[in-house]
Amino acid sequence: MVSERAKRTTPFTAMEVLERANRMDDVVHLEVGEPDFDTPAAVTDAAIAALQAGETGYTSSKGKPELRRAISAYYDRQYGVDVDPSRIIVTSGSSPALLLAFNTLVDPGDEVVLTDPYYACYPNFVRQAGGRISTVSLSAADGFRPDVNEFARTVSTETEALLLNSPANPTGAVLDGSTLEELVSLADAADATVISDEVYHGLTYEGEDHTILEYTDDAFVLDGFSKRFAMTGWRLGWMVAPPEYVEHVNRIAQNVLICAPNFVQSAGVAALESAANGLDDVRDTYRERRDYLVDAVEEWGLSMDYTPGGAYYLLIDVSNLPGDAFDAADFFLEEAGVAMTPGPDFGTNAEDCLRVSYANSAERLETASERIQQALSTIETPLAD
Ligand SMILES: Cc1ncc(COP(=O)(O)O)c(C=O)c1O
Repeated sequence: MVSERAKRTTPFTAMEVLERANRMDDVVHLEVGEPDFDTPAAVTDAAIAALQAGETGYTSSKGKPELRRAISAYYDRQYGVDVDPSRIIVTSGSSPALLLAFNTLVDPGDEVVLTDPYYACYPNFVRQAGGRISTVSLSAADGFRPDVNEFARTVSTETEALLLNSPANPTGAVLDGSTLEELVSLADAADATVISDEVYHGLTYEGEDHTILEYTDDAFVLDGFSKRFAMTGWRLGWMVAPPEYVEHVNRIAQNVLICAPNFVQSAGVAALESAANGLDDVRDTYRERRDYLVDAVEEWGLSMDYTPGGAYYLLIDVSNLPGDAFDAADFFLEEAGVAMTPGPDFGTNAEDCLRVSYANSAERLETASERIQQALSTIETPLAD
């Protein structure tokens, strides 16, 4: 019999839209969060050299010492934060790190606080661990940044963990340092642990990246190589855990994951040590695309009351189109050949929205914009304000 847990796991709509769009001709893909840049050559070269050197066996479940040291050095360089390599566990992407964090922290019935909109997979991770979800509502009017008071009303001594994600998927919102600091104090007061998903660090256009580790050592950080180094298919990430959790996390990692791929870990060292310099150009390119799309959405007559500060997503409100967000996504896919993800996957506060990813070339974004405008001009009902 299929378990109740398996039945409760919802599909990841962005991947389903992708599969459907892949069966069609000439679709502009704005549905998936996958960089269109190539992995830096230094990384690919390091992987090939590692394979040729026979780095094909298991590694320590915590990861290769040289990669854990390189990640530690990165925290020092990037944020001026001292993270002992013994607190770092290398994983096959940040998704397994999420699985490890929730399974280490959460007992059945424990409360986990998420912001809504949230990354579509978060609730499934919480449910896998048997946790109970409470949400803090975010709105476009506030730039999808949380009000600390609203957090204070939601977080209580019942709360085991609160999950933060900045820059955020699907909104692109960026939290500033003082908000992070206040949220850490709030979590401390409730004896709850912060889990900070920092996978979009490096792709911040407004403000600066701050790791939660600038404010506390008592937090889990999840991060990885997928987004900023254009390494989604390499499956490499890491977790920083509070010292007293490391061995517990590691026991689950040993059993469930064994280790991240050996030669890919050597490529990760090259990414942190040789490829980090090229990131500014990548970030500038994303910023230009964001600026282009923000203007384009206005020209389409659709509403977006905020400017995303990071990642490569924006949420556009499609409540003035006929039908719901799924109908809107169908309409743009069928009539314009542009794939976007319906918002309901990302929470109640994204129900009237589509998530648009601008991890696509300027040329394709222009094509998408022209096609969307053309498709919208065929709708008889004028768009309401
Ligand atoms: C917010 C967020 N966290 C984690 C992930 C997982 O990334 P990966 O497992 O490739 O590191 C994603 C992927 O889209 C994401 O958007």
